[in-house]
Amino acid sequence: MKLTADQLAQFTKDGFLILPGLFSPDEIDALRAPLSDLFTVGAPENFIEKDSGIVRTAMGLHLRDSTYAKVVRHPRLVEPARQITGANDLYVQQVKVNAKVAFDGEVWQWHYDFATHHAEDGVEAPLALNLHIFLDDVTEFNGPLWFLRGSHKDGPVGATLDTVTTSYPLWCVDKAAVTKLANAGGIASATGPAGTALIFGDALVHGSPPNLSPWDRHIFSLILNPVANAGTKQQRPDHQHHRDLTPVAALPDNCLLAA
Ligand code: SIN
Ligand code: MN
Repeated sequence: MKLTADQLAQFTKDGFLILPGLFSPDEIDALRAPLSDLFTVGAPENFIEKDSGIVRTAMGLHLRDSTYAKVVRHPRLVEPARQITGANDLYVQQVKVNAKVAFDGEVWQWHYDFATHHAEDGVEAPLALNLHIFLDDVTEFNGPLWFLRGSHKDGPVGATLDTVTTSYPLWCVDKAAVTKLANAGGIASATGPAGTALIFGDALVHGSPPNLSPWDRHIFSLILNPVANAGTKQQRPDHQHHRDLTPVAALPDNCLLAA
């Protein structure tokens, strides 16, 4: 699958791209089926919510489940990522499902991923892409991602490490910088039915509010990074930044449904 020139131009301008209906209901069912097993509290690759103790993020999924081993090589994700980065050789940097469960799903603070990738993993440039698939309908109510439109344009802003707000250590952007960027480009909310895909870059500032609604919100997230831009530090565990730099090879388009 190739992105159109208009889609590429929109990605360059806004820093993100929403692709409704990229994955079918059957494909979403296949991705949802293993989640209850993968979301075991106590698994070393899982992070739990600070307040409720339920699983917030389940990581390393392509090494724990055969469907997730396929989706990280899905051509509808890999080919657009190659187009946007201009790099043929991309490695699987991180693979997770973020669950923001009904009533108890907590905030993701304002941040951009490159701040963490640079400080913790020694990644040189903000070239990695975050490729999402919505596994539930994502609405204004159940904690969608919010983007500061165009916030990637002038290069990464400053960030500081927050180990307090949630259970997940994150390099975050302060209120003054968020205010300036939000007033310049506005805030966009990434919503859409299950099966929607979302692509955004490493320097784009984003976050998401708590889920106060009675509806769960699960989102699959794959980070692909050019091999030439690989991390140089290994201070985080493998499931937070995988060490295997083998370039992904795309599978056939029907891979999620084929036996
Ligand atoms: C992220 O920052 O990549 C995740 C945010 C979310 O799942 O809401
Ligand atoms: Mn992020």
